[in-house]
Amino acid sequence: MSSEQQALLPVDGRVVMISGANRGMGLEIARRLHGDGYAVSLGARNADALADAVAEFDDDRVLKCSYDAKNPKDAETWVAQTVARFGRLDALVNNAGILHMHGLDEYDEARLDEVLDVNLKAPYRLTVAALPHLRKCGTGRIVSINSRSGLMYRPGSADYNISKHANMALTSAPRYEFWEDGVRTTAICPGPTATDMAGQDLARDEELTHPGTIAAIVAMVLTLPNSASVPLIPVCCDLDAM
Ligand SMILES: NC(=O)c1ccc[n+]([C@@H]2O[C@H](COP(=O)([O-])OP(=O)(O)OC[C@H]3O[C@@H](n4cnc5c(N)ncnc54)[C@H](OP(=O)(O)O)[C@@H]3O)[C@@H](O)[C@H]2O)c1
Repeated sequence: MSSEQQALLPVDGRVVMISGANRGMGLEIARRLHGDGYAVSLGARNADALADAVAEFDDDRVLKCSYDAKNPKDAETWVAQTVARFGRLDALVNNAGILHMHGLDEYDEARLDEVLDVNLKAPYRLTVAALPHLRKCGTGRIVSINSRSGLMYRPGSADYNISKHANMALTSAPRYEFWEDGVRTTAICPGPTATDMAGQDLARDEELTHPGTIAAIVAMVLTLPNSASVPLIPVCCDLDAM
């Protein structure tokens, strides 16, 4: 057993892409990883909101990119911009997502397409664009901010549940396909978390998970060596059958 294999991965010099970094969990993850010393490449569709949100970041270790999950070309462009700026890519955090509450009998093709576009097809495109670089570095990481709706059915939004269940398969795929290249993937599956999105769901009395806590979990996952693969992390703020 080599002690080198067991060591935590360094932070300095490693480059992480985070989608939907302008607010909610994405912004908390960006703050945490930047604070820890990573170089962060931040994708958001609202450039002004992103610039305001990360105004205090160290310019040497931040790249702000225009990224709209609904635009198929944006994934390749953003990855290329990241590698052009920093010369490498070590990790991808697929965070951007949307939720529409609806009854199962309220089928709407356009709404379903939008949810699948943002929650499934967009992270798929980012994953494929990032993988050559993640494989090259030997310790590539993909972290998906999935949901407990990706693990068990939660009534109120079939579209969202379907997208997050499919996202579980997407998150596992690179780990199985490129294990030998050192690629490791983790699906973090939060329950209700205190962001704008949780406000769309039912009125809640209980204490929600703080998005900074999810960011701390992402930070922990990114330091784990290849010999400590953690495929799944459910996170609950309540007593849950999960
Ligand atoms: N909050 C919860 O209770 C909870 C629980 C489990 C899982 N999650 C998951 O956590 C992730 C983050 O959600 P959140 O709670 O932070 O929600 P949020 O506060 O609503 O933030 C969503 C983020 O996704 C971005 N986004 C949405 N559509 C986009 C698009 N077309 N292109 C680029 N970015 C887009 C938003 O950007 P704009 O500002 O431009 O809209 C925003 O930055 C999501 O994947 C969500 O499914 C949330």
